[in-house]
Amino acid sequence: MALELQQKYLKDNNNWFWWPLFPLYPYGSRNTIFSVLVPDFVWSFEQLQGLYYVAVPIRMTVVKVPKGLMIVNPLPPTKDLLDQLRILEQEYGPVRSIVLPTASGLEHKISMPAMARSFSKATLWVCPGQWSFPFTLPLSWLGFPSGRTRTLFADGVPHKNICQWISLGPIDIGLGRFQEIACFHKPSHSLLVTDALIGIDSQPPKLFDLDPTPLLFHARDLGTQALDDSPEIRKKGWARLVLFASLLKPSLLKIPSIKTVFKNAFKPGLLNLRSHFGLYPFEWQKGWESTCDEIIGRKKPLLQVAPVIERLVFPRAKKEFLRWLDDIKDLDGMKLLVPAHFSAPITFTKRECVALRQKINFSRWGILSEDSSFLGSLDSSLLKIGVVPKDPLKKFRD
Ligand SMILES: [Fe+2]
Repeated sequence: MALELQQKYLKDNNNWFWWPLFPLYPYGSRNTIFSVLVPDFVWSFEQLQGLYYVAVPIRMTVVKVPKGLMIVNPLPPTKDLLDQLRILEQEYGPVRSIVLPTASGLEHKISMPAMARSFSKATLWVCPGQWSFPFTLPLSWLGFPSGRTRTLFADGVPHKNICQWISLGPIDIGLGRFQEIACFHKPSHSLLVTDALIGIDSQPPKLFDLDPTPLLFHARDLGTQALDDSPEIRKKGWARLVLFASLLKPSLLKIPSIKTVFKNAFKPGLLNLRSHFGLYPFEWQKGWESTCDEIIGRKKPLLQVAPVIERLVFPRAKKEFLRWLDDIKDLDGMKLLVPAHFSAPITFTKRECVALRQKINFSRWGILSEDSSFLGSLDSSLLKIGVVPKDPLKKFRD
């Protein structure tokens, strides 16, 4: 009953009118899960975001700063999300800063103007080197209020007495730059990152309790199957969503012919939008689960560099990634990692950081493995046609 009441409340309060700007699932209805990560210091707001039911959590983090709050990586400010933020403001003070700590992550950028309008006295801080595609437009044209928008480092940093800001990159990724600025929030001993590091757990995120449709949809083997529900089915669906999000096209996934897809579609009981009318262009091969071991933790979130980041952003810039890990490993008192995707918080002390560095240092970084062969071939193609540079650090070194 409690879940039903929550679903009804969210239905009335989860509207995001600007969704056509970046038309990702779940489009104009963005449910938010709010949680306390570190009592009195760090709070998480999670929503789903994805394509064709391949939806994974994206996180906005709010931290306590002197005389108020700081928002990092804003999300679409639905009424529900804003109501929760106003409750935090009543207890901890006003939102003083809104930070976009990434140059390239459009999914984090898109909500910044709307969030800025909701907190008209807050100062906006952005990562240097913001770019847009196909044309790089001035930030003010994209809805960033010029009078209160600052660039990290060039204009200083917010709350420097309690926050330490550490840059990963910049590196040249052809169309623009990749750079993200991690924030070490000293009072909570938490390192806030955007896309650089993630931790993935085998249990589906709580967001799917509100609507498990994406899990049930992808847990099937054929479009003729109904969207059945059970804890095992949800877990299977989650594993497949993670593989999609991590590898884009997992090696043991085949795309059936259009003829086969249509042959299995439009069956009785599936003639509805929720089932996409039975259209299901996926064919998972035997043994697909074996790929999960390197990506999904069985008992706790598995800390890792997201395969997409390793294979498409940093394949020729391992040194820069190691340099960044060297910078963060010595942060005094670091205990937790709070990424902008998947699980949080994750235990992250000097010990975990050094172990990760060792693993990366001795790994076959950027070398094709069968599981990530699609990412590898995509990178090779982009390199061949000159979209991505051979030396991604050259532009910023010269
Ligand atoms: Fe991201």
